Amino acid sequence: MRMSKKFDAFVTWASGIKVPINKKILDQMAAWSQSMNVKVNRSALLSWRVLEVNTMFADRISDVPKSFIREILKVAISPNIISFAGGLPNRELFPVQELQTASNSVFEHSGHEALQYSNTEGYLPLREFISQRYKTIKGLNIEPKNILITTGSQQGLDLLGKTFLNEKDRVIIEKPGYLGAIQLFSIYKARFSPVLLENDGVNIQELMVASKLRNTKLMYTVPNFQNPTGITYTNEKREQIANVLRGKPLMLIEDDPYGDLRYSGTHQSSFMHYLPEQTILLGSFSKTVVPSFRTGWIVAPDEIMEKLIVAKQASDLHTNFFTQKLLAEYLQQNDLNEHISKIKTVYGRQCLAMIECIKRHFPKEVTYTLPEGGMFLWVTLPYGISAMDLFQKAIEKDVAFVPGDPFYTDLKESVSTLRLNFSCVDEATIEKGIARLGESIHEYITEYKQKNPTV
Ligand SMILES: Cc1ncc(COP(=O)(O)O)c(C=O)c1O
Repeated sequence: MRMSKKFDAFVTWASGIKVPINKKILDQMAAWSQSMNVKVNRSALLSWRVLEVNTMFADRISDVPKSFIREILKVAISPNIISFAGGLPNRELFPVQELQTASNSVFEHSGHEALQYSNTEGYLPLREFISQRYKTIKGLNIEPKNILITTGSQQGLDLLGKTFLNEKDRVIIEKPGYLGAIQLFSIYKARFSPVLLENDGVNIQELMVASKLRNTKLMYTVPNFQNPTGITYTNEKREQIANVLRGKPLMLIEDDPYGDLRYSGTHQSSFMHYLPEQTILLGSFSKTVVPSFRTGWIVAPDEIMEKLIVAKQASDLHTNFFTQKLLAEYLQQNDLNEHISKIKTVYGRQCLAMIECIKRHFPKEVTYTLPEGGMFLWVTLPYGISAMDLFQKAIEKDVAFVPGDPFYTDLKESVSTLRLNFSCVDEATIEKGIARLGESIHEYITEYKQKNPTV
């Protein structure tokens, strides 16, 4: 692709003004930004972003920063490193044999049909299965016609962005929030209204303010075992949120990929119970069966479903039909609840092990969430010390986590929170890794106190 003769890139300042620069300066800035990103002063990096070295790319893609986690994970792949940084389901629990049997059966009985194009809405028996599960497990009367099969729930989010958001429309988002949603809504050039996530759900006062801002179209939540914090909204908080949003011209998205993975505490009701006319549900088989099938779904009222189907048609015509058939066959031949209980047993044990290790190895000033399900736990360091700086120290001791920074949409300086994943590490490894991380935190706090004797 051709570049402009006069300049090679734009730098966008925090004020939004774009300044053209040449390649030499750009290279210097890139090197400078990289070193700052890791060691020196990240807040300076946050005040400007280098756009693509080509004026042909659309702003919607050039303005979205590179995945911070992916960069961090590059450091964490060395075999010696114990990583709590990932966000994957535990592959040892994938029902490989059962899926192979189901796949053989699909090829044998309906191979030609399974390999053909299909309808946009998704395979009816699969939608009927999902509908039935909502009825029996969650007491929600959801019909198959209100379920659209998507290519993972991430595509569900994309279709919602496409359907609802004009440039500069507002999205209320948890603070901290799911990175995939932050990235997605950024592509639609939405403005974020971050609302503090407390131990029982978002802060109601902040939500009241945010929900009154002009052009607020969506509120995005992960109310069960949230990514990144592991927090679950209480029923009381859900009801209060519904009361704040009721009648306002906005939709609440309840993204629930982890809801089935509860290993302690009591089930909390979906927002569908409290705010049925304004709730859109997102679901997924990624955490309960396998993520590679990329099979998720959206639940929405009729008039929204019509628009979503148009958006989906334009996107990919339909989700992979073979995997939909395979999944439906697997679900018919096997007991999903039984399989989910195996996952819950393992994750529950690992979560408990992590909490016990944290109690033994972390300084008392460190606080953490107590997840009742899901795959993540959230840690807050004392004195506002930087999780990014701790990351450098932890890597030297061969242990990795995700610093909290990328989960915030209004970041001004480095944060003191971090995410730990426990789904993919066994208990012995958790013990070793948390001990190493505890050592890093102790050392950091000692140094910090030496430098800041008044704290
Ligand atoms: C909160 C949340 N929503 C959506 C997704 C995407 O899931 P899927 O694999 O169904 O696209 C994830 C994946 O980790 C997630 O954590």
